[in-house]
Amino acid sequence: MVSKRLEAAINKQINAELWSAYLYLSMSMHFNNEGLPGIANWFLNQFKEEQDHAHKFMNYMNAKGNRVELTPIDKVDTSWKSVLHAFEETLKHERVVTQLINDLVTIAKEEKDYASDNFLQWFVNEQVEEEETAQGIIDSLRLIGDNGFGVYSLDKELGTRTYTAADVSATGGE
Ligand code: FEO
Repeated sequence: MVSKRLEAAINKQINAELWSAYLYLSMSMHFNNEGLPGIANWFLNQFKEEQDHAHKFMNYMNAKGNRVELTPIDKVDTSWKSVLHAFEETLKHERVVTQLINDLVTIAKEEKDYASDNFLQWFVNEQVEEEETAQGIIDSLRLIGDNGFGVYSLDKELGTRTYTAADVSATGGE
């Protein structure tokens, strides 16, 4: 079992991952409406990945004999003034998630819970990738500026992103 303190923090993290999923689903729906199906596709894949993250935490809680408590998911924004704005919000949010993961690692280390520390390293690595990807797209968007063909091309490129299910098992993916 993990401690009650870590259990409570992981339950909050499950909610944060599901909130992230909801945020990216909202972005996906927005860009569908804006006539940018590739960008909508990118965010739909992101939505699925966030669900995997929540699922992985839930499987870990189950494996350790702890309790998962699903709590209400706060509302999310429903529109963004530009593609750049949405990706800036994405990066900002992922940085918050990185801090939350770091806080979980700190608790695990303080409690000498090495299994949880080890489990959390998957998320530590995942966050490096999440931030790098969002930053890369922001860099491209800043170069593109107001160039409509640039946005069109990026939409085509992001439309090729496919979903690969993560290993959501409690011990997989290290
Ligand atoms: Fe689950 Fe995008 O971090």
